[in-house]
Amino acid sequence: MKFIFLILLCFLTSCGFAPQINTQDKLVIAHRGASGYLPEHSIAAKAMAHAMNADYIEQDVVMSKDNQLLILHDHYLDRVTNVATVFPNRKRQDGRYYAIDFTLTEIRTLKMTEGFSVDESGQQKAGFPERFPLWKSTFAVHTLAEEIELIQGLNKSTGKNIGIYVEIKSPAFHLHEGKDISKAVLKELKRYGYDKTNDKVFLQSFDAIDLQRIKKQLLPELNMQIKLVQLIAMTDWQETLIYQQDSTSVYNYDWMLQPSSMQKIATYADGIGPWKPMLVDSKSKPVKSNGLLEAAHKAGLVVHPYTFRADSGRIPEYAQDFDDLLKIFYFDIGVDGVFTDFPDKAVQFLQTRR
Ligand code: G3P
Ligand code: CA
Repeated sequence: MKFIFLILLCFLTSCGFAPQINTQDKLVIAHRGASGYLPEHSIAAKAMAHAMNADYIEQDVVMSKDNQLLILHDHYLDRVTNVATVFPNRKRQDGRYYAIDFTLTEIRTLKMTEGFSVDESGQQKAGFPERFPLWKSTFAVHTLAEEIELIQGLNKSTGKNIGIYVEIKSPAFHLHEGKDISKAVLKELKRYGYDKTNDKVFLQSFDAIDLQRIKKQLLPELNMQIKLVQLIAMTDWQETLIYQQDSTSVYNYDWMLQPSSMQKIATYADGIGPWKPMLVDSKSKPVKSNGLLEAAHKAGLVVHPYTFRADSGRIPEYAQDFDDLLKIFYFDIGVDGVFTDFPDKAVQFLQTRR
């Protein structure tokens, strides 16, 4: 019987009738909204991502001085707003303007734009020069509540059921500053009806220590059971700091890159969010999985790598174009979803294969 099945499988694949993969299960996560087209985390970028039919829309969350939950990628304001012009005397010693030093009322006076850096001559340089122009139109920082109300409102008016994919940014930094951002985010999610495993929400964090606290302490305390995702960084990015009184050390992610670690992560999370090169055997041609994904799946974890960008210069050399990159990750490697700045392109790619 087994032999007949193998012959049948061989026949089907050699004739080009490969067994169908259920593309309905593959997710498109709009990274910071439709951020390839509008300033990241602007409310407009979120509305656009909703119209593009992403499955989930991402929120990065930080806290203000008056404990408001803000949608911002950095816990600084200076990369995407005019804070340096409006409040020139409010930077810390390191030259950065921390969101946690400003009230929501103050933050609402700022203009928001595409991400930029400032060069030695004081000139602003857009992070992505081909994207939406700096300082054009009017954008502002908004809150987690405002964004959830937008998405839930659009779900009602369009009849869709698009989910939210919330990242708690730098929880250890916030705790060191006396603010339990994770507890505040969970309470806000519960207030808006996201508290059960099947609700359309994922909660993600780079901080494994805090994610374990969420799983083992905060979720039971709040009678919640939502899906958790462990984000994975390279240690040398210094993404996560450990605070010990007056000193800090860098969290070491190396253990998470071992396939054998997936079982451990599965004790407190439902998925992983790796940087996409972490899944690839870079020496193989054509490119293939390095085994991390298979180990994650074996442990029952979904795999949602970041970040898929179609901008020129952002396609790895092993892919011919953006569609080829999506094909490699969705189907050759077999990821369950991707974070992308271009949700329209990923939605369209999957539609052509349904
Ligand atoms: O959360 C997934 C992805 O967004 C992680 O990268 O730095 O864009 O938050 P980052
Ligand atoms: Ca994120």
